[in-house]
Amino acid sequence: MLDKNFLWGGAVAANQYEGAWNVDGKGISVADVMTKGSVNQPRQITDDVLHHQEYPNHLGIDFYHHYQEEIKLMAEMGFKCFRLSIAWSRIFPHGDEDKPNEAGLAFYDRVFAECWKYQMEPVVTLSHFEMPFYLAKHYGGWRNRKMIDFFLKFATTCFQRYQSKVKYWMTFNEINNLIDTDDPFNAWTGAGVLYQEDENVEQTMYQISHYQFVASALAVQAAKKISADNQVGCMLHFGPIYPASSQPLDQMASVKAMDRRFFFSDVQVRGAYPDYVKQLWKRHHLQLDITADDLATLHRGCVDYIGFSYYKSSVAEFDSKTDFKEKPNPHVSKSDWGWAIDPVGLRYILNVAYERYQKPLFIVENGLGAYDKLENNQVNDDYRIQYLQAHVVQMLKAIELDGVQVLGYTPWAAIDIVSASTGEMAKRYGLIYVNLPEVQQGKAGIYRKKSFAWYQKVIATNGECLADKVR
Ligand code: BG6
Repeated sequence: MLDKNFLWGGAVAANQYEGAWNVDGKGISVADVMTKGSVNQPRQITDDVLHHQEYPNHLGIDFYHHYQEEIKLMAEMGFKCFRLSIAWSRIFPHGDEDKPNEAGLAFYDRVFAECWKYQMEPVVTLSHFEMPFYLAKHYGGWRNRKMIDFFLKFATTCFQRYQSKVKYWMTFNEINNLIDTDDPFNAWTGAGVLYQEDENVEQTMYQISHYQFVASALAVQAAKKISADNQVGCMLHFGPIYPASSQPLDQMASVKAMDRRFFFSDVQVRGAYPDYVKQLWKRHHLQLDITADDLATLHRGCVDYIGFSYYKSSVAEFDSKTDFKEKPNPHVSKSDWGWAIDPVGLRYILNVAYERYQKPLFIVENGLGAYDKLENNQVNDDYRIQYLQAHVVQMLKAIELDGVQVLGYTPWAAIDIVSASTGEMAKRYGLIYVNLPEVQQGKAGIYRKKSFAWYQKVIATNGECLADKVR
């Protein structure tokens, strides 16, 4: 039987659903200069907001003007919590102002009040693939040490303003995406950085990560000072990278691949750099700006829990030059966007992460991006029910059979929103369908999918309706 306080809910991110990108004093964010892409066409990052381009995040699903109807439906599903993020550029439009934008702060007052109307606990990410564009353009984003102060000011402003309304915080969404430097999306959305051709990208990546670690650790300390009740987590992209075979070299390749994946949480949970990364810096002759004060800060700012997203798994094969090569897992099926579907991988990663850290885990994203069809005001998304059910069952096994401590489960997404990687609305994850043409006419345009009723029952029974599949 699950704990009665288990946090069932759903998740979203400000830049992907709020819209109102330039309303009530909001500044441009790094997500506002990303064009629409598709499964075959990457999004472009433009140098400013250009009039002839299409920017899907500008409208999102217009939650800004329809939050009441949308939160009401989430409450009807029985959500105990709602994971959302605060748009940094709504609070500090440029990011380096002395005073916050009152209209931006007031918007989240209204949203949190609406959540509490239904006893729904807000779970808040401070920076979810988003920061003021001005900081990226004029300060070089997280290449610059000054970002630590700007972030801390933003975080502290939020902790103070919402201290009686928000207890669960996370600092940077999927901070470990930075490790993958091949895709420019990661450094741009995560840190406001575009790598130059002639720079040592690996060195820059470790440097910007370091500044974020320090900023995150300072934020943890600030949150605790403001209220001892605050719980601050990190947020990682997790998923197993299994060995490609039983060959010892492939087994070792998997260990190295998982170290890379866990590097960020190793620092944020343990408050110190792991030895394997110090060796790597030495071998690669990296010169990093890391002071003794920074290291003391990391030590004092360990997170309380580990929030993570789980979507897919892969395999690692030995490679003599790079230690390992990551490859698709031939034993699992794939979504229409090529993402591996592996429910057992969720139980696996819960076990591995819990053994590594012995800290509470929080599954703050998990879901299926699919093409949905609205017919007669209905969406029969049996494929999503199947996906979510299989994952929830594996989570319940991890909790009930393996003893892993899990705080909650917030599938991606509570409601259809703009896809982060492709900028499409067609890649839908929600339990609530959003009909964009209606939104463009100023309506909410929201419909319950079949998965809505399925999830409602799971929450109402606190997972007991799936008990026969667990034991
Ligand atoms: C996670 C992000 O990586 O995956 C979300 O935290 C994102 O912001 C989600 O939307 C699904 O990815 P996508 O690209 O399919 O929207």
